[in-house]
Amino acid sequence: MELITWIDSYSVGSEKLDGQHKRILAMINSLGEAMLAGNERAALMKIFSDLAGYAKTHFKEEEKLLEERNYPGLSEHRERHAELNRRLADYYRTFYTEKKPQTTEVMDFLQHWLFDHILEEDMRYRNFITDKNVPR
Ligand SMILES: [Fe+2]
Ligand SMILES: [Fe+2]
Repeated sequence: MELITWIDSYSVGSEKLDGQHKRILAMINSLGEAMLAGNERAALMKIFSDLAGYAKTHFKEEEKLLEERNYPGLSEHRERHAELNRRLADYYRTFYTEKKPQTTEVMDFLQHWLFDHILEEDMRYRNFITDKNVPR
């Protein structure tokens, strides 16, 4: 599995949200590294649960900002977040109960989730929230 590197074009135009996206990315990478290193399940579960918790907080803050900016796609975006929260919880449960956790599958989901959601769906609100101080 390859780790993901942040590049400037991933910016959604808000320093705050970019910072949160970067942190999510770093957490996904840490989980990938811990898996590669063959760390024990308890250690992986800890990173996973921190990641899922942080993602939840991020979704809430993002929705709050989108609400303030009257983003027209908000309700759809909220639904996507709810679905991601559900999937994170499902993966966490499966990861916990499986005899041999499917680490590649989990990483695949996390990396695609990040790319699909941040780079496609989050990117759609860019024009609504862009900070004046963030270069385009
Ligand atoms: Fe986001
Ligand atoms: Fe989002």
